[in-house]
Amino acid sequence: MCELMKLTDNLPEKTPPHGGDIYHLARTMGLDLQELLDFSANINPLGFPPGIPRAIQKALPEIVHYPDKRCLGLKEELAAYHHLQAEQILVGNGSTELIYLAARALRPRKALIVAPAFSEYEHGLNAADIPVDFHLTTEAQNFTLDQPLDFRGADLVFLAHPASPSGALLPPDLLAELAAGLEAAGSYLLLDEAFIDFVEEASFKTQLERFPRVLILRSFTKFFAIPGMRLGYLLGAAALLDRLAAIQEPWSVNTLAQAMGRACLRDADYMERSRVLVQRERQDLLQGLKSLPGLQPFDSAVNYLLVKLTRPDFTAASLQKALLTRRIVIRDASNFRGLDARFFRVAVRAREENQQLLEALGHFLR
Ligand SMILES: Cc1ncc(COP(=O)(O)O)c(C=O)c1O
Repeated sequence: MCELMKLTDNLPEKTPPHGGDIYHLARTMGLDLQELLDFSANINPLGFPPGIPRAIQKALPEIVHYPDKRCLGLKEELAAYHHLQAEQILVGNGSTELIYLAARALRPRKALIVAPAFSEYEHGLNAADIPVDFHLTTEAQNFTLDQPLDFRGADLVFLAHPASPSGALLPPDLLAELAAGLEAAGSYLLLDEAFIDFVEEASFKTQLERFPRVLILRSFTKFFAIPGMRLGYLLGAAALLDRLAAIQEPWSVNTLAQAMGRACLRDADYMERSRVLVQRERQDLLQGLKSLPGLQPFDSAVNYLLVKLTRPDFTAASLQKALLTRRIVIRDASNFRGLDARFFRVAVRAREENQQLLEALGHFLR
């Protein structure tokens, strides 16, 4: 135990802005990457689709050319998958690139972020010198919007669907009402659906035609388990996407990423297995967390769970450090705007891994 404690001696005091910072953690703790069990990034526990290695091999000879900067092949397959037109899609180097791009291209006078939220909305807006206001949702609301939003004259609203980090879906009527209100005011909505693939039927994409000022942000990172490849896209009106495309750096999406995206979309069996697995394991993990003393997990529709510590002898940071002695990484969520030192987040992983987490939590909390 003493030796394990030493593992965590050199950890930084400050909570990192993202989960999944395992390169840094492993290096600080003197471990190999594979020795860490990472619950801090929310990645499909099935891993990437089995067809990916072949797709990479097949595309490899093409890397002697520049990538297709319009990502036409991938856009056509995305269009077929989502029942949209290729012109309604803009591909980026991860959805994060598109957050920064939207801030720069739309140049709102003022933006509003529904918080707690992914920190890159704020960073992207700051980088474009755009004043930012926040609407804080509350614990009683499961940290999601459940009533009409007063967007206070903002020209651009950032909203996650499902909410992050709580994983709660928004009522469809409320979303439509918000989109209509923003539309009438001439304002934009950036709706972040980076995790919606786990509940694809809840996507707002079916409403896009009605709302030419809505951009829907999507990602291959989470559902298809390829965060290291960097692939995301926007769905929206062609005219609006053209404004973003006009200032996007050329070739930001490499050839292998484009090939991987196409391979992902062709594997319907993997998608189905992923949805079934995550739903089942989330229920199990939720029950397991509820049964532990001093933990209050929030209900979620996707592959992560926000948890509140209800006892005074632990903070998320101290619990995180304790779990690291067992090489388990959770996301201390205290640095999300609107949350505090009592909150942490865990990914839903495979059954045995979730059991390992529950066992370790039980050890420290009992
Ligand atoms: C809610 C949310 N949106 C978007 C992203 C960005 O994902 P990526 O840039 O890998 O597509 C993240 C990453 O953690 C996220 O949590």
